[in-house]
Amino acid sequence: MRNLKRVWTLFLALALVLSLCAPAYAAVEDTGFSDVEADAWYAEFVVYCRDNGLMAGTSETTFSPNTPTTRAMMATILYRLAGTPAVSGTDSYTDTQPGAWYSDAVLWASQNGVVSGYGNGLFGTDDPLTREQMAVMLWRYSGSPSANAGSDFADESSIASWADTAVDWVRENGYMSGVGANLFQPQGQATRAQMATILTRYHQDAEPPVTPEPEPEVGKTLVAYFSATGNTESIAQHLQTILNADLYEIVPEDPYTSEDLNYNNDGCRANQEQNDPNARPAISGSVEHMEDYDVVFLGYPIWWGQAPKIIYTFLESYDLDGVTIVPFCTSGSSGIGSSATNLQSLALNANWLSGQRFSGSASQDAVTAWVEGLDLPEASADAEDTQPQL
Ligand SMILES: Cc1cc2nc3c(=O)[nH]c(=O)nc-3n(C[C@H](O)[C@H](O)[C@H](O)COP(=O)(O)O)c2cc1C
Repeated sequence: MRNLKRVWTLFLALALVLSLCAPAYAAVEDTGFSDVEADAWYAEFVVYCRDNGLMAGTSETTFSPNTPTTRAMMATILYRLAGTPAVSGTDSYTDTQPGAWYSDAVLWASQNGVVSGYGNGLFGTDDPLTREQMAVMLWRYSGSPSANAGSDFADESSIASWADTAVDWVRENGYMSGVGANLFQPQGQATRAQMATILTRYHQDAEPPVTPEPEPEVGKTLVAYFSATGNTESIAQHLQTILNADLYEIVPEDPYTSEDLNYNNDGCRANQEQNDPNARPAISGSVEHMEDYDVVFLGYPIWWGQAPKIIYTFLESYDLDGVTIVPFCTSGSSGIGSSATNLQSLALNANWLSGQRFSGSASQDAVTAWVEGLDLPEASADAEDTQPQL
């Protein structure tokens, strides 16, 4: 029984420890900070500043939106805005700590005229930043530009003379406005939420969000080829690599045997087809979504000076209006001759580029050199999101 009691006490103690360790999850899902409700007026500015590296939280989970911004915080924020450049030396203030989280920032700010301290050796590290000080630091950071005086705030007379132009400037540029009733409240404290708001306006103004240009419609390139003995296939594969194109082999429904290709035999199938204007050997399968392609490289072997009739079948199988067709061929020795131009009547409304003959052993570099000289439509030179390897 005593043992049971001991176990129970242990269990309770453990439960207590665990409950104390449990993290507090309070509406942190949207802003990432437990003290910044997703629907707070400043939530989007806090998130913007955090995401752009302008302000960090006061802890892993808190932002402390209602805490006054201190002068050290402001120096740090501007230092971050400047991209945290390297600094050297030490500042001359007596109220800053060496090696503190703000040290580099305060040093940078004083070396660059963004802050000047109180003039008595004090920086006022932990002092709450006043609204007019905030205006002045931002203004100095921006190079102390001139500003239109505009109409006065109701409390204009209480703005320090050294802050006059800065306040005009923040108002003119919409970075800070009054706090209501046309009051600027120059000595009022700026909370971290207000700071985030002003900083967001400033940052967005300096670097307006880039609206991405709509992506141009990028057409695709197809390399379609017929190859009885592999030579044309080799060039087609080079092209696929170079252009990052899709590859389609034109496969005869009835494959050619070596006897079919024996051109020394007048009656071989290949010769018969080449001599028959109406021959249209059937193709096995088809190109999926031919309509997606802007450019079709069309490859074939030279058979008796012309393209094999299966290429005719291919061209008659699709609507190629507006498609750029680039013929290429391999041969024993013949040039491309009239083989390509004779194909044009089969796709009259295509944009035919002049073709090129290669030997079956042509290198990728040789093929690349040819592609580089082609006048391809711009969009099609880039396949999807990968640059061609030209
Ligand atoms: C029926 C037939 C006719 C051919 N006629 C020619 C020709 O007129 N001129 C030529 O140089 N080569 C000719 N050749 C050779 C092929 O064009 C050459 O071997 C080509 O590279 C083969 O390509 P492939 O391996 O992709 O089928 C002919 C080959 C065959 C089978």
